[in-house]
Amino acid sequence: MDIHELTPGEMADRSGVAVSALHFYERQGLIASRRTSGNQRRYPRESLRRVAFIRMSQRLGIPLARIREALATLPTDRVPTSKDWARLSAGWRQDIDDRILHLQRLRDNLTGCIGCGCLSLKTCALSNPGDMLADQGPGAVRL
Ligand code: FES
Repeated sequence: MDIHELTPGEMADRSGVAVSALHFYERQGLIASRRTSGNQRRYPRESLRRVAFIRMSQRLGIPLARIREALATLPTDRVPTSKDWARLSAGWRQDIDDRILHLQRLRDNLTGCIGCGCLSLKTCALSNPGDMLADQGPGAVRL
């Protein structure tokens, strides 16, 4: 076996991610493996960094689609350097800032809900946050 490759079990041990999660990441196009003549997966060693980046990004609440986009910007003709990984991580700053702003707006709109608990479909922004037709009256206003 190529010393620059890892079996799924080795990847799982080294990354702390279950083999099933590695397979999921692979199905999602976040990591790639090659198959041996016995149809066993082998991951390039640098996949460990990819998995660490994916896990870190998920912990920050970054959607998999955005993670996939970011990973697609890595060079394909060489092993990514620490500078490449730093650039990707730095790219999440705007995403995090955007989410903080969104949550602050949500909190400000939900001031009436805090301590209320009615979850009224008519008036509660928490139970029916996207109800743009609420201003036109109750029920199915388009029928
Ligand atoms: S829970 Fe009562 S207004 Fe939202």
